Amino acid sequence: MKRPPKFYRPVWAEINHKHIKHNFLTVKARLSRGTGILAVIKANAYGHGLVSVGRTVSRLGAKFLGVTSIEESLDLKAARINTPSLILGNIFPFSNLETAVKNNIRISLASVEAALQCDKTARRLKKKVYVHAKIDTGMGRIGVSARNAAAFVEKIRSLRSVVLEGIYTHFAGAYEDSETTQKQIHLFTSLLNALKARGIEIPFIHDANSGAIFKYPQVQFSLVRPGISLFGVWPVAGQTPSDLRPALAWKSRIIYLKNVPADTPVSYAGTFRTARPSVIATAAFGYADGFRRSFSNKAQVLVGGLRAPVVGRVTMDMTMLDVTDVPDVKVGDEVVILGRQGDAVLPVEELARWADTSPYEILCGIASRVPRVDLHA
Ligand SMILES: Cc1ncc(COP(=O)(O)O)c(C=O)c1O
Repeated sequence: MKRPPKFYRPVWAEINHKHIKHNFLTVKARLSRGTGILAVIKANAYGHGLVSVGRTVSRLGAKFLGVTSIEESLDLKAARINTPSLILGNIFPFSNLETAVKNNIRISLASVEAALQCDKTARRLKKKVYVHAKIDTGMGRIGVSARNAAAFVEKIRSLRSVVLEGIYTHFAGAYEDSETTQKQIHLFTSLLNALKARGIEIPFIHDANSGAIFKYPQVQFSLVRPGISLFGVWPVAGQTPSDLRPALAWKSRIIYLKNVPADTPVSYAGTFRTARPSVIATAAFGYADGFRRSFSNKAQVLVGGLRAPVVGRVTMDMTMLDVTDVPDVKVGDEVVILGRQGDAVLPVEELARWADTSPYEILCGIASRVPRVDLHA
């Protein structure tokens, strides 16, 4: 097992792999027989650490790993994680295809031009390239429109060095927009029926992200693509399925304490002034760690099992906290930025609300300089 990273500056993220395992099995328990999991671990596994999470979900039997880039696929391969990875975005420029094909990386195809380039590259390398056709049923990002999809599929199948391993679409509002989701489901299933009528069988068909897995069990095909649920998080506050367990805790320590009189300004531009004689702590995290400046005078953290407000502007590497009401507070005390301390909990959904953003952005925004400490026991 990998040794925990050595770090000196006290800010780190603990990744609970037992919880990731629990969440994976929770998702799996919802699947119909024969449906596998394409674990979406792109963007450094939503900030949880690509390679360590990739290893955990591969051992649990993920059929594919969904990634952002060739870089992520190569990092997994270098770590000897042999579960095939599918790049969920577009490959650009096409000269990158050579590396992708050489390394058997699965490619999402969203245009005829890309399909032709894949074929050309694979022929030159005397290899086959495995692709998943990406169909746009309403997301409006990448993908061939549903009405042109049957012809697109036929075109891919005509190419000698391209193997059409999968076909998929992505929901734009599975968490809250039922009307759009129903339309997307209709377009995708109509396409699949049309392909079937032409005698076309594609081994891997997938559409469901976490929202659809939990809310639309009727749309499971041969694979599902959970991301955020594997990390025990849900994008819509107050609706997190109770059987998910958050996998990431973000922590720091108090590195300085001072007693100040009332009316003392704190941090840049004095946007906070103490209203009473106060104990102000400085903790070792700031916006360069991903703790946003918009949390200034808004967010709370946990110290001594209690909530302590963030006071004054968040700075690049340090943040001030009002710990006047925390008994026996000391330099070196743990600060929980996100997660649990005793009975107190600060969920990522709450941080997202303070920053007027989504839990995805908070998790992906935890900077790479914050060491990830993997907990397996
Ligand atoms: C194409 C695709 N599939 C699946 C997912 C996973 O979605 P979620 O994290 O909501 O489960 C994503 C995430 O953005 C995605 O882009």
